Amino acid sequence: MALVTTEKMFKAAYNNGYAIGAFNVNNMEITQGIIEAIAEKKAPLILQISRGARQYASMGYLRAIIDVAVAENPDIPICMHLDHGDTFEVCKQCVDDGFTSVMIDASRHRFEENIKITKQVVEYAHAHGVVVEAELGQLGGIEEDVVGVSHDDIASHLTDPNQAIEFVEKSGCDSLAVACGTSHGAYKFKSAPTLAFDVIQKVADKLAGFPLVMHGSSSVLKEFKDLINKYGGKMPDAMGVPEDAITKASKMAVCKVNIDTDLRMAMTAKIRQVFAEKPGEFDPRKYLGPARDAIKAMVLHKLDILGCSGKAAECL
Ligand code: G3H
Ligand code: 13P
Ligand code: ZN
Repeated sequence: MALVTTEKMFKAAYNNGYAIGAFNVNNMEITQGIIEAIAEKKAPLILQISRGARQYASMGYLRAIIDVAVAENPDIPICMHLDHGDTFEVCKQCVDDGFTSVMIDASRHRFEENIKITKQVVEYAHAHGVVVEAELGQLGGIEEDVVGVSHDDIASHLTDPNQAIEFVEKSGCDSLAVACGTSHGAYKFKSAPTLAFDVIQKVADKLAGFPLVMHGSSSVLKEFKDLINKYGGKMPDAMGVPEDAITKASKMAVCKVNIDTDLRMAMTAKIRQVFAEKPGEFDPRKYLGPARDAIKAMVLHKLDILGCSGKAAECL
């Protein structure tokens, strides 16, 4: 089957209390690791591509890799989603490039401006059969191409549930990323993880039946953190969102959970391990292969945390 939008996935996820994993892809090995896990678990899938990924790999290569994944897995619904599109122009380009879902992240703008830009994207995307995710409130963490607020400011930039109805009604977006205390990257909390489940619940109550999205949802798995630190890396203070919190959110109105950092750490950990244990290794297949296997194992585990294993058929 061809690429799908998130419409049926979100309906099934919302009604049945699970979430779809949205995994960031930047190259062939990452994509293959994810796809192998998805095929084994028969889970629906969102592959997401950031502006940085488009610049790094080029859309032609990424699209060709995803086309193979789609062709080889006709029984799995796969959505190709733009992660954090920051302007109308970027979103338009992605709609034109065949994405089936785009995120317009205009959350850095004032409320009215966020609505205006989101609405513009919605009008173009919907006219082309593409769905739109928007963001209200601001996440933490500053990455290469995605700018959030500093960690000290996260609590004051959570989504305001009182703005949710007006935002969704006026913008026409199909799903909403809520700022609930998470941040991008590997350093999400300085001490005990705290998530604002009350914010998620209040937004969910205001928007009955409407799918919510949780960004910054990597867990910074101990296995990979330890390997990285053991084999010459330096991430001692890395901390992610506990997996039971992800499961809890997945049972609420959160239908899409974004994961990138855990993929990066799995890949990095395995490559570091091979280089440390076999200093003479210089065949990329001998370190990218184990990295791909680690990604597959990690995603297999995530799908159970999200509750979407075995749900492919009901999302078709
Ligand atoms: O939301 C951020 C994602 O992890 C993508 O990061 O822009 O470095 O590809 P990136
Ligand atoms: P992580 O950095 O927690 O993996 O979040 C990724 C994300 O939200 C992509 O949009
Ligand atoms: Zn994000």
